[in-house]
Amino acid sequence: MNAIDMDKVRALESLPDDELENRIRAVRAQYGKDICLLAHLYQRKRITQLADFSGDSFGLSKKASEFDGGKYIVFCGVRFMAESAAILGRSDQEVIHPDPEAGCPMADMANLTEVQKAWEAIQGSGTVIPVTYMNSTADIKAFCGKNGGTICTSSNATQTFKWALERGQKIFFLPDEHLGRNTAIRFGISEKDIAVWDPEKEDGGQAGAYPNAKVILWRGYCPVHQKFTVRDVEHVRRFYPKSRIVVHPEVPKEVAELADAVGSTGFIQEYVKNQTEPGDELFIGTEINLIQNLAADYPDRKIHKLHRSLCLTMYQITLGRILYALENIENFERVVVPEDIKHYSRVALDRMLKLV
Ligand code: 13P
Ligand code: SF4
Repeated sequence: MNAIDMDKVRALESLPDDELENRIRAVRAQYGKDICLLAHLYQRKRITQLADFSGDSFGLSKKASEFDGGKYIVFCGVRFMAESAAILGRSDQEVIHPDPEAGCPMADMANLTEVQKAWEAIQGSGTVIPVTYMNSTADIKAFCGKNGGTICTSSNATQTFKWALERGQKIFFLPDEHLGRNTAIRFGISEKDIAVWDPEKEDGGQAGAYPNAKVILWRGYCPVHQKFTVRDVEHVRRFYPKSRIVVHPEVPKEVAELADAVGSTGFIQEYVKNQTEPGDELFIGTEINLIQNLAADYPDRKIHKLHRSLCLTMYQITLGRILYALENIENFERVVVPEDIKHYSRVALDRMLKLV
């Protein structure tokens, strides 16, 4: 595999979008069904409309593994998504991530060494079941698989909590504190039974609370969704009283509690499709490109952002990067998940899939 030639990438990125799109279409026509181009809905419209499929992270990985062909899966999203496609993909498929440096900051907030340290420290008062959000690195997924735990998406987190508490006395939830707290509260667990493990503190920061806690949350967050505030909601309620507010469960609890609906990327997409009518006004608290994609798909609804919310690493995937990966597809680096990590990640994923 060849190293990425950044001068060539920059030269491509300076070309007009129309030219890049035509060249991307030309490579795709040459390879036919051998290429399966996936775009997460946080990608720009120009990218989602070139893709075979666009959608949420888990849905895309499943689509790729079921695709008739797809020797090369080109995943336009962040690294954990491309890794998930490699975990779920068939043995005859190879995964390509157009910008291998585009990681999800939240997924990268939980590294295996720190997680293992926390895991050891919280043992001793009842069985702990680890649950990781899909937005985590492959080795954290494998850690959960190895230790009797599972994976969740933002759509099935509540079912996962039920599954875990049928098997143990407490849940260790990674890496998003907000999704964990929002789910625990929705599940009926009170704040006093929730503790937080802060990896930046030697003993996690709440040593006295872990033995009695029902849920221990890793102190990670999404820099995009954490920025939504109660003031954003109050502003909309005051100036747009007839509108509704829908947010992603990675937002802080105070914001989720005030919203009209809370749900994943897929949920928000379905909400706009099935629960709004022409003329309805909606403020959405999630990544800006999903909002812009929905506004373009439903021009007869008034769809707005709740606040500025660009995911910078999603934005690192450009038409120029995609074209470079496609024109160098035979030699472009692959997303490789080591076999043992893949195995235990699948163990955790299979537990989740039985719940869906
Ligand atoms: P989904 O898993 O809902 O696609 O979300 C991905 C994400 O990055 C949320 O911020
Ligand atoms: Fe990660 Fe947040 Fe970006 Fe999603 S929006 S990829 S959770 S940083």
